[in-house]
Amino acid sequence: MSGLKDLLRTENLSRTDVELILETSQEFAANPLKRSSSLAHKSVAIYMTKPSTRTRLASETAVAHLGGTPIFLRGDELQIGRGETIEDTAKIISQFSDALIIRTYAQNDVDQLGKFASIPVINALTDEDHPTQLLADWMVIREKFGKEISGRKFVYVGDGNNVATSWLLMGAIMGAHVVAATPSGKFALSPEVIAKATSLAKASGGRVESTNDAKAAAEGASVIYTDVWMSMGDSESERAEKFKALSPFMVNDELMSLTTKDSIFMHCLPAHRGEEVAASVIDGAKSVVWREAFHRRTTIQALLYLLTRGELKGN
Ligand code: CP
Ligand code: NVA
Repeated sequence: MSGLKDLLRTENLSRTDVELILETSQEFAANPLKRSSSLAHKSVAIYMTKPSTRTRLASETAVAHLGGTPIFLRGDELQIGRGETIEDTAKIISQFSDALIIRTYAQNDVDQLGKFASIPVINALTDEDHPTQLLADWMVIREKFGKEISGRKFVYVGDGNNVATSWLLMGAIMGAHVVAATPSGKFALSPEVIAKATSLAKASGGRVESTNDAKAAAEGASVIYTDVWMSMGDSESERAEKFKALSPFMVNDELMSLTTKDSIFMHCLPAHRGEEVAASVIDGAKSVVWREAFHRRTTIQALLYLLTRGELKGN
């Protein structure tokens, strides 16, 4: 198979790939059963060592709509939890399934699965990245603003986590003006992520900014995006320190009042009302969170369809 075998990291995708995924996803939004025999008599393994509501439901439904059988595997159900190697596990899954969707902690484990599996491997969230989420988010951005995004500012506000990383990288790939407003210090995005996004933006005509000033970032923004302050795997011992550092980054009505008239509020979910976002914002008129969740299925379906047919090119 030439081109892109796996989606291990957001940065693996080219803009052309994302455009193709969005177009295909649009078709699956209009007709979920459009290519309902493309995975007939095939299976997709979905292996998760962290909880999931949306990604699991979206993935299992996507496989079913393509005519395949999803095989859901919890972390403690495989021999990998008892010391079987990633290499051996990857070879075995490749013998039975036609793709692997994996959610876990270490990005390196996902990279290794991609290396040793002969089938497409899709990152369904690691501590570092959440590429499939951003595909759904960009479907919603397209639906709301269309293809012409020059002059628009796409702002992430909050913890410098996996979703913040994916937000910046995907925005940079798509030629957008993306901003990350995070606390300074240990809850900021790493300089490596900012540098990677900046170099992607250079190629795409986008622009990347990072700041510690949520209000300045929100001024004139078309999108305000946030995520939970405590991610899966974060140390509970840091909770108080983290919440203190993040309290100026709560998305509330005051922050939203600085944005454009046609702005939207985005959140990958799950949300914690009263922490990273006020209930009045997430349940208010500008919120598009349910549409983001809807497009988790259409985009994963598109990704599975295209990756299993070798139709993505990669960066
Ligand atoms: N947004 C997202 O990935 O949600 P889940 O953790 O419920 O899959
Ligand atoms: N940053 C969150 C995203 C959940 C979808 C986490 O990793 O838990």
